[in-house]
Amino acid sequence: MIYQIYPRSFQDSDADGVGDLAGIELRLDYLAGLGIDAIWLSPIYPSPMADFGYDVADFCGIDAMFGDLAGFDRLLAAVHNRGLRLLLDFVPNHSSDQHPWFVESRGSRDNPKRDWYIWRDPAPDGGPPNNWISDFGGSSWEWDETTGQYYLHAFLASQPDLNWRKPELREAMVTVLRFWLDRGVDGFRIDVLWHIIKAEGLPDNPINTHWTPDCTQRDRLVQVYSTDQPEAHAISAEFRALADRYGDRVLIGEICLPNDRHARWYGTPDRLQVHLPFNFQLIENAWDAASLRRMIAAYEASLPAFGWPNWVIGSHDAPRIAARIGETQARVAAMLLLTLRGTPTMYQGDEIGIGEVKISPDRVRDPQDLRQPGLGIGRDRSRTPIPWNASAYAGFSTVEPWLPLNEDWRERNFEIQDRDSNSLLSLYRSLLALRRSHDALAIGDFKLVDAAEDVLAYQRRHAGECLLIALNLSDAMRTLMLPTDTCVEEVLASTLPPSTWALRPLDAALAPNEGLLLRLKEKH
Ligand code: GLC
Ligand code: MG
Repeated sequence: MIYQIYPRSFQDSDADGVGDLAGIELRLDYLAGLGIDAIWLSPIYPSPMADFGYDVADFCGIDAMFGDLAGFDRLLAAVHNRGLRLLLDFVPNHSSDQHPWFVESRGSRDNPKRDWYIWRDPAPDGGPPNNWISDFGGSSWEWDETTGQYYLHAFLASQPDLNWRKPELREAMVTVLRFWLDRGVDGFRIDVLWHIIKAEGLPDNPINTHWTPDCTQRDRLVQVYSTDQPEAHAISAEFRALADRYGDRVLIGEICLPNDRHARWYGTPDRLQVHLPFNFQLIENAWDAASLRRMIAAYEASLPAFGWPNWVIGSHDAPRIAARIGETQARVAAMLLLTLRGTPTMYQGDEIGIGEVKISPDRVRDPQDLRQPGLGIGRDRSRTPIPWNASAYAGFSTVEPWLPLNEDWRERNFEIQDRDSNSLLSLYRSLLALRRSHDALAIGDFKLVDAAEDVLAYQRRHAGECLLIALNLSDAMRTLMLPTDTCVEEVLASTLPPSTWALRPLDAALAPNEGLLLRLKEKH
């Protein structure tokens, strides 16, 4: 299990209202106790914070707000001491406009770093060089008065895209990876990897004929020429070769593409790419048994034979799972995430079921939301500080945090859920423990099986053990269908509070909103 920490909102240790590395260190015992394997940290590098760290001004440093390199080394050692792994967020597509490389690049047309970024003359009418639209809205091109050219930015104008066709830039970025690998980090989550290189000649992207005004501006076009280029796969293979030279390191790619194109990011057996192209389909898919079943089958079928699956249920970009499907189904989602085949990734705060957090207009910080208001795409609601206890500012800080807390923090916090064996946190902990003690869950085969309407059911098998997972996505009773010639040997877990299921008959039906994890045996 990979656990994503959004450092600004995990734990503040120096009373500035923003989380930091020393804060994370204070909470490591909690993470180890939860039963996770690895921590992925969203960016901690020096940054003007226009996109809250995804605008990097120095790829080899630590922002003073988070700590310093010595503090990072301390955190890394502390993580390793607990038998956990630490992954960093590598942001190769762009830098901050404050990065010394870009300051040089925009200095003059003949600066040696000029084409470390993507500069073009205006179109004949003086407008932008092509029709590309930034993921955060508006043109992807920013006019630079001093040198009389436009530069490309897939995100904010203060996040200029790097030019991966330039060998010197490539080398400089590989040096960045080495810097952290040499320090002992266990791998990287690679930000917007499928964006990393653009089609030669930068042709206009085709118009998306399905666009409607409730879509984002970016979706007016299909990103045919600005993303998923063959050369990007070659770069990804280079990253992998480097990671493999270090041994026992993992690369995760942020890749948002349909299955067939997504699967190509695994590479081929003789030219591997990332270990795990992040799979966001649990976030995107409708929450009903029939379509989840279709989605899971299609994803499993799309994987190359050597490709290990993975599942993500939340992130600093996505709406909170408990806000989307409600608190009861969030328990079912936890069981689904932790019993599917493949590496699960969860996002801080989802284990206590933080739901919808209303951000008043005066507190909105997300640049994507500020630039495209009214679409309901704000990311701040998933980035609110973690409530640890019921003391002032929820134990996150001793001052007003940078974003508001979830309104119910006095009742919904770690301390309360830690003591309550019926809590979502306790469910996560026990499911993670079961994943450790049952190889069928960790590495077993996976097979979807027949089930009653509104029920998603599958088997996991390994070395003679056969587990059945049956998830009732409706709020009515459902029959529990067992595979022919089997009966239930043991109920390993239910998503219902333990106080209500511990004494259930083995062959009982599924209660409303219940997920069950069962060990089966053959009937003789
Ligand atoms: C990724 C990050 C997101 C960021 C964007 C630009 O999608 O997850 O938070 O804004 O890249 O770096
Ligand atoms: Mg702080």
